[in-house]
Amino acid sequence: MKIVGFCNLKGGVGKTTMCQNLAAALASLGRRVAVLDLDPQSNLSSGWGITVDEGEPYVYDFLVGDSSLQDLAVRREGVDVIPSSLDLAVAELQLEREPGRDSLLKAALDGVDEDSYDYIFCDSPPQLGLFTRNVLAAADEIMVPLESEFYSLAGVRLLDSTVKLFKKRLNKDLAVGGVVLTRHNPKVVINRDVQREVASYYGDVLFRRYVRQNVSIVEASGAGMSVLSYDKNCNGAKDYRLLAEEFEERQGRYGKEKTQSA
Ligand SMILES: Nc1ncnc2c1ncn2[C@@H]1O[C@H](COP(=O)(O)OP(=O)(O)OP(=O)(O)O)[C@@H](O)[C@H]1O
Ligand SMILES: [Mg+2]
Repeated sequence: MKIVGFCNLKGGVGKTTMCQNLAAALASLGRRVAVLDLDPQSNLSSGWGITVDEGEPYVYDFLVGDSSLQDLAVRREGVDVIPSSLDLAVAELQLEREPGRDSLLKAALDGVDEDSYDYIFCDSPPQLGLFTRNVLAAADEIMVPLESEFYSLAGVRLLDSTVKLFKKRLNKDLAVGGVVLTRHNPKVVINRDVQREVASYYGDVLFRRYVRQNVSIVEASGAGMSVLSYDKNCNGAKDYRLLAEEFEERQGRYGKEKTQSA
């Protein structure tokens, strides 16, 4: 079981979109995936058409050890979605006062049976608040979605120094598993420039595959589903399928199974 955080301290870069669509693409390859919505904005939950009624348990109850993943999971497209709620914003204020507050997620995940899932994806909010810190403390690796624009590079450096800090303090094994360009257009000069800069900074950590700008991706989350279910032939669905293959290849799985079935 691998814990993967989707992190970028910059907002609106495609963290939630990547978490949802990569999870759906991996589930369609037969992987057992759970996604945790750790953002009070709850975009990952609403992207799958899930709302939590007042008083109903949600991801908070997993964080504080009151509910298991199975108790909370809402099944969508073969993925176990652990939803969030706006109430998480209030809970954050209260949790900020607790000792060990940055390790709540790690403690909760330590109690999950290693065989339950292949991947547990954690979507995080766009600042270094309590939930992002919990993701950085608990993850085996983080995926960093990045827009191919000038200001992204400053964001990458900030995240990089944050990761170094977490490696020193709370999670010595934390790795940047991948940087992926989202809404990338290779025809646009600045997009290509940023791609080159990120490649020279991160080397192989930058995925070869990128996600193109695609309106179906936006429409899909409005319709409460992944882009793969919304329109399996659109560029967004194609890009996410290819991204899932590269993700699996980097995890050493895709290649292995191909050899086995050959
Ligand atoms: N490849 C794409 N093409 C077009 N639009 C996209 C693409 N990827 C994401 N978007 C859109 O960009 C917006 C921001 O994406 P998303 O919510 O995933 O970012 P985020 O990093 O999770 O934001 P936040 O920091 O607020 O959590 C959304 O409206 C989403 O639908
Ligand atoms: Mg988001």
